[in-house]
Amino acid sequence: MKAIILAGGAGTRLHPITKVISKQLLPVYDKPMIYYPMSVLMLAGIRDILIISTPHDLPNFRNLFGDGSQLGLRLSYAEQPRPEGLAQAFIIGKEFIGEDDVCMVLGDNIFFGAGLQGMLREAIQTVEQENKAVIFGYYVDDPHRYGVAEMDKDGNVLSIEEKPKHPKSNFAVVGLYFYPNSVVKIASGVKPSARGELEITTVNQEYLDKQQLKLQVMSRGYAWLDTGTHEALTDATEFVKVLEKRTSLKIACLEEIALRMGYISRETFMENVEALGKSSYAEYLKKI
Ligand code: DAU
Repeated sequence: MKAIILAGGAGTRLHPITKVISKQLLPVYDKPMIYYPMSVLMLAGIRDILIISTPHDLPNFRNLFGDGSQLGLRLSYAEQPRPEGLAQAFIIGKEFIGEDDVCMVLGDNIFFGAGLQGMLREAIQTVEQENKAVIFGYYVDDPHRYGVAEMDKDGNVLSIEEKPKHPKSNFAVVGLYFYPNSVVKIASGVKPSARGELEITTVNQEYLDKQQLKLQVMSRGYAWLDTGTHEALTDATEFVKVLEKRTSLKIACLEEIALRMGYISRETFMENVEALGKSSYAEYLKKI
């Protein structure tokens, strides 16, 4: 399976912070925001990753990660000229995806939870063995801000709507999606919504219509953090800070994950540490 990190968009909700810098490069405590979704992909065992961003911001992502070899990854980059919708990622990424199944994670979504790795592996298995799309639901107080899934008592999805005025449930669909290769064809057929975007919800609706959509509820053991407002961004920083301090472990520490997953050698790991200079982040890595 390959993966796309979608890290474009205008970021206007965070202006003026995002006037000259991409939202997904803003710090969330001790690392750039994109480290968090990148860590999710690495934990899922996915190493072929396409980063999509705006023509203005893409060079910065390239400067940050290069070809990814220092993390044992194969990174590619592609431009999205205008933010025309999440589903456009599969059209832009068509060549990159080729014949493979594909996961997409939004560059501003942060996930945390002890069982995360198992849940990701299970999602990949469902795609590969059952040819179904897998999405995740998370209980929120303000569902009208998100894609919303309505389920029956057995957890089967009944409906899925984008930012409904009158949400049928409190389950938001998070920004992490696993699809069979058919998503490329489905995304190519999506028509712009009333707000002019190629909606990911339309893609999911199509899998639902074909009875090929599985929704996995992220239970109370997981944190899904939104970074869409100034307050949410500060909360995310605070969350990571408290957890890291208390557990003495870092969340989304890509170099550590790469070493533990066997993606890189000890030598490459030490080269990473050297390149990080005198930061406390580098000190943490040295202890490993
Ligand atoms: O965060 C989860 C939600 O993400 C889902 O519940 C919704 O179903 C989904 O539509 C999306 O809603 P948002 O309102 O959060 O989407 P937003 O337009 O803010 O875009 C999400 C991220 O993707 C954001 O960092 C910008 C980036 N983006 C967005 C668009 C529309 C792109 O890179 N390109 C785009 O064309």
